Amino acid sequence: MTKEPTILSIETSLDDTCAAVTYGRRVLSNVVSSQSSYHADWGGTVPDLAKRLHEQWLPRVVSLALKRANNPHLDALAVTVGPGLAPSLEQGIAYCKLLATKYQLPILAVNHLEGHLLSSFAQTRSGSRGLTNPVYPALGFLISGGHTELVLMHQIGRYELLGETLDDAAGEAYDKVARLLMLGYPGGPILANLAQSGTPRYPLPEPMTTRKDLNFSFSGLKAAARRYLENEKPSLTLKFTQDFAASFQQAVFKHLLTRFRRAIDLYSPRMVLLGGGVVSNVALRTLTRSAAREYGLPVYFPSNQKLITDNAGMIGIVASYKFARQEFTDPNKLDRLPNLNFAKASEPPQPATSNTSSSQG
Ligand code: KG4
Ligand code: ZN
Repeated sequence: MTKEPTILSIETSLDDTCAAVTYGRRVLSNVVSSQSSYHADWGGTVPDLAKRLHEQWLPRVVSLALKRANNPHLDALAVTVGPGLAPSLEQGIAYCKLLATKYQLPILAVNHLEGHLLSSFAQTRSGSRGLTNPVYPALGFLISGGHTELVLMHQIGRYELLGETLDDAAGEAYDKVARLLMLGYPGGPILANLAQSGTPRYPLPEPMTTRKDLNFSFSGLKAAARRYLENEKPSLTLKFTQDFAASFQQAVFKHLLTRFRRAIDLYSPRMVLLGGGVVSNVALRTLTRSAAREYGLPVYFPSNQKLITDNAGMIGIVASYKFARQEFTDPNKLDRLPNLNFAKASEPPQPATSNTSSSQG
């Protein structure tokens, strides 16, 4: 059996400064230093501030990740090259290049979205948990603050983008509506929490019900929320906020689930992989699982919360597969790719035959 690679990974695509050490699929350390309290006053990530904090924090975050993994011998370095905020990505890449020169290590360039997609494969330090028997094709459902995508995965490293958001991402809509309700930043988790105790009684409709494709749109829903609040000027009592949050969340879930079911009908996947920060939402996971169960499909998501939101452990998982394929990047050619995405599906969707609902993986 070949030895698994030990890799130090860096992730700075937005406003979390992250470093992790992995041994194959085992996550030995996973350090996340969140900048969110620094950006809170501005209600969103401030690019220059994010860049400066990444630069300041990276040396400490990296040395902590190495220390927590007992300072192992490294075989390679990995870094997120995109998608993300250009100034943030630049800092991670620059620091990775510095370390590569210092320690004479090869570099693996990683797509942040592939990180979220493969986050279910991550194992604990002792090698437990983590998806071990993948079956393909898999349907990836990525729901984060920057992206909302359905991805068809034929094998590790081969993906097709089936549908994506045409405007805001789902997490972004949560954060923006939370801001309208003056819930703080990032407000997504707070809004989701309030929604749990509310009754959906306000007129916030499911987006794009007439379009029969696999794309998403959340800006109309956000605008409807803003219009309602501006026109009705309700007092933001706890009861109102809970019910309004529940109304918003219900529309988001309906929209996500309509597209999710359609993708299963069209592409007959054999398993489902969930990834991205919004997958922290337990109610959403429950709904997704019960929809998938109707098709006999297993649903996987990361084994711990830290692997769901942005982190470098998931980057290390992708890197370990890239290492096996020897997909190293020349440091002189290593550059940020702020708009990186999976290639769009070339084939138009073929309607599945009627008895695919029982295909079990
Ligand atoms: O994947 P992630 O950490 O960063 C990006 O790559 O965007 O996702 C962060 C997003 C934020 O928009 C946050 O509000 C949202 O995930 N989020 C949630 C929940 N927890 C985090 N949205 C809804 N319900 C939650 N429980
Ligand atoms: Zn992310």
